[in-house]
Amino acid sequence: MCGIVGYIGNEDARDILLKGLTNLEYRGYDSAGIALLNADGIHVFKEKGRIAVLKKTVDPAVHATLGIGHTRWATHGEPNQRNAHPHQSASGRFTLVHNGVIENYNQLKADYLADVILKSETDTEVVVQLIETFANEGLSTEAALRKTLQLLDGSYAIALLDTEDKDTLYVAKNKSPLLIGIGNGFNVVASDATAMIQQTKRYVELMDEEVVVLKKDSYTIMDLDGSTKIRQPYTVSFDAHDTEKGAYPHYMLKEIDEQPAVMRRLLQEYGGSDGTVTLDPAITRAINDADRIYIIACGTSYHAGLVGRHLLETIAGIPTEVHISSEFSYNMPLLSQKPLFIFISQSGETADSRAVLVKVKKLGYPTLTMTNVEGSTLYREADYRMLLFAGPEIAVASTKAYTAMIAVFSFMAVAAAQKKGVKPSFNLLHELSIAAQGMEQMIDEKALLKEVAREYLSITRNAFYIGRALDYYVCMEAALKLKEVSYIQAEGFAGGELKHGTIALIEDGTPVFAFATQQKVNNNIRSNVEEVAARGAHTCIISMDGVTNHADDRIVLPNVHPALAPLVCAVPLQLIAYYAALQNECDVDKPRNLAKSVTVE
Ligand code: M6R
Repeated sequence: MCGIVGYIGNEDARDILLKGLTNLEYRGYDSAGIALLNADGIHVFKEKGRIAVLKKTVDPAVHATLGIGHTRWATHGEPNQRNAHPHQSASGRFTLVHNGVIENYNQLKADYLADVILKSETDTEVVVQLIETFANEGLSTEAALRKTLQLLDGSYAIALLDTEDKDTLYVAKNKSPLLIGIGNGFNVVASDATAMIQQTKRYVELMDEEVVVLKKDSYTIMDLDGSTKIRQPYTVSFDAHDTEKGAYPHYMLKEIDEQPAVMRRLLQEYGGSDGTVTLDPAITRAINDADRIYIIACGTSYHAGLVGRHLLETIAGIPTEVHISSEFSYNMPLLSQKPLFIFISQSGETADSRAVLVKVKKLGYPTLTMTNVEGSTLYREADYRMLLFAGPEIAVASTKAYTAMIAVFSFMAVAAAQKKGVKPSFNLLHELSIAAQGMEQMIDEKALLKEVAREYLSITRNAFYIGRALDYYVCMEAALKLKEVSYIQAEGFAGGELKHGTIALIEDGTPVFAFATQQKVNNNIRSNVEEVAARGAHTCIISMDGVTNHADDRIVLPNVHPALAPLVCAVPLQLIAYYAALQNECDVDKPRNLAKSVTVE
């Protein structure tokens, strides 16, 4: 959701900014723009729609070594050229891009900008106009920026240019993500490191309510009162190659294929040489000290959390609840005496989850974030952190992060059991490597899965997934994946629930996929399949070799430990969704209305 880039150095900023914005496309946006500052003054180009449209309108004759860029996901004001960023102050002296939401912008308009004619409907424009108002009163740009920020309620990541200072890029952050990238003779600004990974691998984290005065060879971080802070850069663990599609037609397909490799990486990161799991002892202690774990997440991460609960309860014996962040935030259940909160977030930036993190931290409870993005907000703000090591996930539909989350929960559960002296009933490291092989086998079944998508999903407007126990959680993820990339209405149900209402929707030809990997409920789910088949459903059973399979099951998964079955189920559910999206000619990597990083509540 919204992305920011900035560059100050010696190279031509235009191409660097456009490339940076292209790298941020995955976050979701509906308009884009850049501003270039050179000896002739400021040059702003912005357009509704894709960056490809913007590229056509940027004047190739304009060269500058300082500039900012933005992708906007509309919140205040419709997505059009006028509301696109950058926004400019009344005189044109200041140009600004902003992510986040300024909650009190109407009040600020009334209090300070009664005489200013605003050109857009955005909350952002108020910020740039305020900066100019205070600069006109005699404040330096830095002081005017800090004074403005002190008045803002809400979230912001800001990059600002001043036509009267062509050697400086001003930056500020509160709640919305923003990093400074450090180069040799240049510096950059980016919403996340993938945006500017072609330029540098060294980044400096910014904390809330910080301002940065960025020159091409220095950065000065300060708080809103102007006191400076020293912070060293860190090096990100991926490079430009990891963010490229290579020969793949879509990131989603590439990321599905990467899953076995991610499992193996996790085995290296969390597996000990003696066959045990190695986790930061402080994390294991925090888990075992808790009388109840609360997993907080959204979307696909929530679905991974449901599997995580099963693993924590069955392997480590720790009572665990899973909650949707946006619900938990405003409808908190009665908590146990010694809770531990685990936040799961691929991006580490999800605003709904962060809202809960802030609340429970205020209540003094311990927090742990499981994320794919080192240095992200949720990563930084939690007491403990575990990385997913999945590499950058660019497609909006989460795939490899989902399976990495499940695997990390299995390490967490086994480490907690080990520490308590409870011997897990299976060897996790061995079973995970078998699961990785199983995922690989399913990845090799693309032709079959494409055919299944054609046979079941080419002419339908809806589909159902049914399962029981762990398979039910898999079904919820399968339905979300299908909806978000193919726009087919899909629901995931507990097999036993169908007869309590939903079976009324089954008619001739309705596609019903049944996951049947769990021995203990195999007969029950097969009865549910019979029930829908008797009412005309077009059924597709996905079972597990040697455990639940029958001769005529459509898809038979390789045999893996039942607790890890969701890992292997993930591949067909993702590939079926992928091929259904292709059939429907959808924008697979950037589905409509969605954003990768959901940074507003
Ligand atoms: O970055 P997060 O894991 O916190 O994101 C949570 C959801 O927004 C995300 O999983 C979303 O549901 C994906 N589009 C699913 O593919």
